[in-house]
Amino acid sequence: MSGKSILVAESVRKVYRTGGDEVVALHDLDLTVAEGEFLAVMGPSGSGKTTLLNCVSGLDEIDGGRVLVDGLSIHELSDKDRTKHRAKEMGFIFQAFNLIPVFTVTENVELPLLLAGTKEHDARERARATLERMGLGHRLDRRPPELSGGEQQRVAIARALAGRPRIVWADEPTGNLDSEMAAKVIELLGELHDEGLSLILITHDPTVAAHADRLITVRDGRVVADERLGTTPLPATVH
Ligand SMILES: Nc1ncnc2c1ncn2[C@@H]1O[C@H](COP(=O)(O)OP(=O)(O)OP(=O)(O)O)[C@@H](O)[C@H]1O
Ligand SMILES: [Mg+2]
Repeated sequence: MSGKSILVAESVRKVYRTGGDEVVALHDLDLTVAEGEFLAVMGPSGSGKTTLLNCVSGLDEIDGGRVLVDGLSIHELSDKDRTKHRAKEMGFIFQAFNLIPVFTVTENVELPLLLAGTKEHDARERARATLERMGLGHRLDRRPPELSGGEQQRVAIARALAGRPRIVWADEPTGNLDSEMAAKVIELLGELHDEGLSLILITHDPTVAAHADRLITVRDGRVVADERLGTTPLPATVH
């Protein structure tokens, strides 16, 4: 970890308005993620974890504050530029996999690359190489409904990684998997983190969170605890 911040959220506010109701889902949330950091996010159901992911990654609009990715204020970009920037810099892994059932495994992984402007031939090569790395070289032409849950999640991870993002977001990526598959997915994410990727992982499972460098706890749309985990030494202060 270099200590440089890759992601800075400053006073991010999110209000959902449905009918006459208002829910303040993020209360002026501040969060800094260092380059190469593995951050786990925990908190009760409804506390704002998925909202944090959606808003801080720029998938969703915000009602106040700003988010800087490498110094760039992403919510000030046009929709088109923000989508492009996101496709280049970020990957996403969700509990429900969110694969397109009528596309083949290869096509699912290629799609974000094509959206980011990668040439067709390169997108196919990169999709194949990433799927092979996930141990899915024998499943390239299958469609997601023909795969096991663990295989589907590995396709989703390949899709998140194929564009070589610097930041990967995962929302309960092991929630639909049995414990053996979940352990494999966590091991895979750990390897990516070892290669320098920044990883932000939402989980209800403390044993999953224990793999992270740092754990934040969200409650009622606020970060209420922020702790460093494991044996990673803090940088020494030079006087
Ligand atoms: N699209 C939406 N419209 C209105 N309210 C929403 C919307 N999405 C989330 N909320 C509300 O915002 C709050 C935070 O929801 P969020 O989905 O971020 O919680 P969470 O921490 O991810 O919960 P879980 O652990 O159950 O996934 C909740 O009160 C929720 O009901
Ligand atoms: Mg959620």
